[in-house]
Amino acid sequence: MKDKRFITLAIETSCDETAVAVLSDGRDVRSNVIASQIAMHRVFGGVVPEIASRRHLEQVNEAAEQALAEAGLCFEDIDLIGVTQGPGLVGALLIGLATAKAYAFALKKPIVGVHHVQAHICAGYIEHKELAPPFLALVVSGGHTNLVKVAGYNDYRVLGRTRDDAVGEAFDKVARTLGLEYPGGPAIDRVARDGDPSAVPFKRVFLEKNSLDFSFSGVKTGVLNYLNTERQAGRAVSTADVAAGFQQSVVDVIVAKSLLAAEMFRENKLVMAGGVAANSLLRKTLREACGRRGIALYCPSPVLCTDNGAMVGVSAYYKYQTSGADALDLDAFPSLPLG
Ligand code: KG4
Ligand code: ZN
Repeated sequence: MKDKRFITLAIETSCDETAVAVLSDGRDVRSNVIASQIAMHRVFGGVVPEIASRRHLEQVNEAAEQALAEAGLCFEDIDLIGVTQGPGLVGALLIGLATAKAYAFALKKPIVGVHHVQAHICAGYIEHKELAPPFLALVVSGGHTNLVKVAGYNDYRVLGRTRDDAVGEAFDKVARTLGLEYPGGPAIDRVARDGDPSAVPFKRVFLEKNSLDFSFSGVKTGVLNYLNTERQAGRAVSTADVAAGFQQSVVDVIVAKSLLAAEMFRENKLVMAGGVAANSLLRKTLREACGRRGIALYCPSPVLCTDNGAMVGVSAYYKYQTSGADALDLDAFPSLPLG
């Protein structure tokens, strides 16, 4: 029998994952293909934009065909095409957009451009079918650190943002200085398990009283200065202790600010989003802290925290429900503002 459900095909190519997903009726993920480029960029210690674009071009059609095959569907079954429009690497975004537009034009189906950070937040809807706005979202990724009030499915208000480095960026830079592989976040998460977080204490930067903004460049520089001083003095450095100390200081600040936002805006639902939401210490600490305060915490599985197509599909669906389709001249915006 023909599948009568509303089918979304979603494409994500904003950074170093070529990802395509197929969803039914908004939130049900039928396939979530992620062709990772991490191994290619690892040799350079970070994402090389030109290589990312080229690789997206090589992989995106195959990923779409695979996603449809895994979902047991074909191109004609698609009702909506969602694609990340920004923020991200412009060349990388353009590959996803050109692909999505070509499918939309050829299949005569609507297209919706999606904000990458809103998509990260929408990952929370996938495994928590009861989750509905309003809620508070903590977005911690390689390019973003935000506290966001989600008032409706397409209504986002930024309450706090980083004034310098994004938290994932700080993880990646500290990891590189410690000689750990790219991406640094998972490497620090792993190594820190054998370290003592109080052996090398680093600064916790809270900024002004009641500020919901973040600043991570101080702690990052603190780690770099500590390593230089110790190495110049010829003293041995424990990578595990430094990783644990850095991670603890960052997690302490993020947890405190999330609780402060919940208190200030009287929210009792908090959704974690973005790659750093996969961090095991952050998940554990935030879960315990929210439990003590009676705040319901929604933590997507790690694979839905890092970049993926499923989150783009959910976001596209809700955007389509509230504001309809975009035109085919839809463009890429590397610094697309949130909210
Ligand atoms: O959301 P994401 O996949 O891409 C962006 O939109 O930026 O986030 C990638 C970031 C990287 O900085 C990576 O190091 C970090 O998420 N990350 C982690 C963990 N897994 C990924 N950071 C800390 N702990 C982790 N387990
Ligand atoms: Zn992301």
